[in-house]
Amino acid sequence: MRTATACAHPNIALVKYWGKQNDELNIPATPSLSVTLSQLKTTTRIEEAQADVIVLDGVRVDDAKILRWLETVRHNFEFPPLRIESSSNFPASSGLASSASGFAALSLALSDALELDWSLDEICEWARRGSASAARSLHGGFVTLEPLGESCRVSRLAKESDWDLSVVVAVTSSKKKAIGSTTGMVASRESSPFYDAWLDATREQYVEAVDAVKKRNFNLLASLAEASCRQMHALMLSTEPALIYWNSGTLKCIEAVIELRLGGCEAFYTIDAGAHVKVVTKTQYLSQVQEKLGRTEGVEKILLSGIGGKAAIC
Ligand code: PMV
Repeated sequence: MRTATACAHPNIALVKYWGKQNDELNIPATPSLSVTLSQLKTTTRIEEAQADVIVLDGVRVDDAKILRWLETVRHNFEFPPLRIESSSNFPASSGLASSASGFAALSLALSDALELDWSLDEICEWARRGSASAARSLHGGFVTLEPLGESCRVSRLAKESDWDLSVVVAVTSSKKKAIGSTTGMVASRESSPFYDAWLDATREQYVEAVDAVKKRNFNLLASLAEASCRQMHALMLSTEPALIYWNSGTLKCIEAVIELRLGGCEAFYTIDAGAHVKVVTKTQYLSQVQEKLGRTEGVEKILLSGIGGKAAIC
């Protein structure tokens, strides 16, 4: 095998998935739609080693998710022990989708290192087996992920240059999240009285959001994305034990976005399994959003991004 390095950007879901229909094959219960972040990036290098070694952001770790993934891939392909070194230019495991860019870069690097000649669909398939949202990080731009039988269909709805939007990430905590998405999703499915209603609502929002992206209808996308975000966090709150990812800074950022909008600024928020708030805006309002969130209580740092492209060998 040869040494390979791949780079991928994280993506944030505008219509979110939370819950699987097949845990073993890692297939989400509902479709989802995401946007890729250009300025945030994960770089993953793979080389042959004496034993499997995983180094994340300079620290050697026994990452259970990656080790499980290697075991699954080895059931299908033979390859020697690997040294995997991965680093991101943003905080990992805190709701900024580091596992999405991580598994996207890892799958692409593995395909290259082993000269497997996987198609983009096959790379998406293996990335999804590691972290379902990772399949969306391979294409770039606006991407959909739809469950389809024993697999999923991943499609690019619009490329990064098709819509001039920007994203402001308000980092409100550098702590790692307490409950990971895999465990949290099982708990929600098993204990929330609202789980089925969440699935129905998401399927409807997805159809409308796809249309909103195709028509570049910002206001419609804004209201659907905020509804998807709030409903996912309502589901999390109704899980036993409750999944509470927000902190006080998260709420302050939501208030700030509502105020911005009242002042005529076109922007909307979305929040994943973590406390950070991502604000999507038309690029003409970028500095206004950056300035407002920068002076919002509880915001530790601001990251600015455009819409990112696909994962690549680098
Ligand atoms: O696929 P995972 O394990 O990275 O979970 C993704 C969960 C959310 O980010 C909250 C939603 C989504 O659709 O990306």
